[in-house]
Amino acid sequence: MNMKNHPRPPRTVRSALWSLAKPLLFSLEPEHAHSLSLHLTRFWGSLGNFPLRVLSGAHTRQPRIGLAAGFDKNAEWLPYLPAFGFGFAEIGTVTPRPQGGNDRPRLFRDPPSERLFNRMGFNNLGAAIVAQRIAKHRPGLPADFKIGINLGKNKTTPNDEAARDYADAAKPFAGLVDYVALNVSSPNTPGLRALQSGAELTQILESVLKINASWKQSVPIYIKLAPELDSETLSQLIQTLARAGASGFILTNTWGGELSNPASPGEILTGGWSGRNLTDISLSRLKIARAATSLKLISVGGIMDIESARHRWLAGADALQLYSGWIYRGPSFVPALGIALKDELGLDTEAPHANSIDNR
Ligand code: FNR
Repeated sequence: MNMKNHPRPPRTVRSALWSLAKPLLFSLEPEHAHSLSLHLTRFWGSLGNFPLRVLSGAHTRQPRIGLAAGFDKNAEWLPYLPAFGFGFAEIGTVTPRPQGGNDRPRLFRDPPSERLFNRMGFNNLGAAIVAQRIAKHRPGLPADFKIGINLGKNKTTPNDEAARDYADAAKPFAGLVDYVALNVSSPNTPGLRALQSGAELTQILESVLKINASWKQSVPIYIKLAPELDSETLSQLIQTLARAGASGFILTNTWGGELSNPASPGEILTGGWSGRNLTDISLSRLKIARAATSLKLISVGGIMDIESARHRWLAGADALQLYSGWIYRGPSFVPALGIALKDELGLDTEAPHANSIDNR
């Protein structure tokens, strides 16, 4: 898809469309809003790139701005993400076997504080089907658009067998992805975060590295970590995993917490908070990580505006990922960030070589 031959649609059209669409989408239950948005995106996408570009204002892609894991768990949005300006997307989390996740409701918005709360529980169609989808869509994507696959373990797999789950989940993605992310930091799979220790994670990493080494072209392996890790634990973990062969780190996942179920007063739901609450925390974790390693760092968590994005670049991020910011700011957020960062920091965010997340 050549996006450079078209003029950028006027900002006023985009703002008007988003100011109509946002209250409508936010009036729906969040998972319904998510699937309605996917249907609308599919419809407009079926008419070519132009309608989606009117929405986003993306005249090109931002190689160093990606979609965070959890938004496109099953590679359904993948064909349309380049038209929103994303330079890469992290699909998943996928587990080796399909699973339904937790009961609904499991996703909530908190608009006044620009946060999201989720307790999804790795609902996904399983690694094999998601790999087939990526294989189907990949040929239609721009050559410079990168795909990461985020792996997890099934809920029923005990932690002492987790390494095999991660390896099994990785297997179908040979030749299909540009990087692999190991997710040991979701608060929504009981016991998962206990795997964030040097010994456990090294074992998981080694089992995935073994699969990766058998691929014709091996890819970088990233580890996605929780925001709650304190400075010393995080630095030590990073150094241990760097020695064990990790290519980089994704910081951070959601902040584990609770929510009183709005539909059932008195019922306390446990899950993870994301959005504005992570802005300072994720930045601080990035700074700790940058002091501990020269490996690649993908910063995610609370990037809600140009200022928070700017702070991540200045703190040494190699790439950024968005989830909550995209929900709250809408489809024009990626190009707006790209333009501002280029203007303010002189960052050539559009250079073809700028995306180095797939180099070790
Ligand atoms: C997530 N996130 C997530 N992360 C992950 O590694 N695997 C996953 O399956 C999911 N699923 C998921 C679902 C929902 C509904 C949300 C809101 C988030 C975490 C996400 O990738 C990101 O790390 C955090 O949301 C922090 O970024 P933001 O939202 O503050 O930009």
